Amino acid sequence: MNELPDRSRSIAGRVAIVTGAASGMGRATARLFASEGARVAVTDLDAATCAAVASECGSGAKAYALDVADKDAITRVVAQIAEDFGGVDILVNNAGISSFCALDNDGYEEIWHRALAVMLTAHQRMVRAALPYLRASDAPRIVNVASTEGLGATPGDTPYVAA
Ligand SMILES: NC(=O)c1ccc[n+]([C@@H]2O[C@H](COP(=O)([O-])OP(=O)(O)OC[C@H]3O[C@@H](n4cnc5c(N)ncnc54)[C@H](O)[C@@H]3O)[C@@H](O)[C@H]2O)c1
Repeated sequence: MNELPDRSRSIAGRVAIVTGAASGMGRATARLFASEGARVAVTDLDAATCAAVASECGSGAKAYALDVADKDAITRVVAQIAEDFGGVDILVNNAGISSFCALDNDGYEEIWHRALAVMLTAHQRMVRAALPYLRASDAPRIVNVASTEGLGATPGDTPYVAA
């Protein structure tokens, strides 16, 4: 049998990108990681809210406005984070939106595309943008936040469930 690798569970000193970190679980993750000694890139739609969360996380954190539905912004901001921190060790794809919409609603197409852009396409784009830096890390980690809603069917919530 293969030996189990003896890896440290510490994230002290690691550089972590958290998307959707201005509120809810993203904010809690950023704060928890910072309290464990990680250096956190707090990213979300609004720069001022990111700055407020970064200041809660302490001097090791920095704030970045990032709309994960914006492909070019992902490329630019991830590269900027890697330059500012000297690398990336951990990526947490957490940004998400509520997207309840009945199938026969006029706005359905728009909500469908937004849900998939933010909660599916963004994940692979973030991973691919961070990949060169994660590969250079000796302890790279990717966390993709999803929902148990995706395991079943919820009436009126098809865009979210599919994403
Ligand atoms: N709350 C729950 O019960 C629950 C359950 C299962 C999964 N989730 C998932 O967990 C994640 C966090 O959920 P939460 O409850 O903390 O939600 P939340 O609304 O408190 O936080 C989501 C954050 O994502 C940000 N965001 C939205 N669109 C964005 C975009 N285009 N670019 C960057 N940031 C964007 C928002 O500004 C917000 O700060 C989501 O992916 C959600 O789908 C939540």
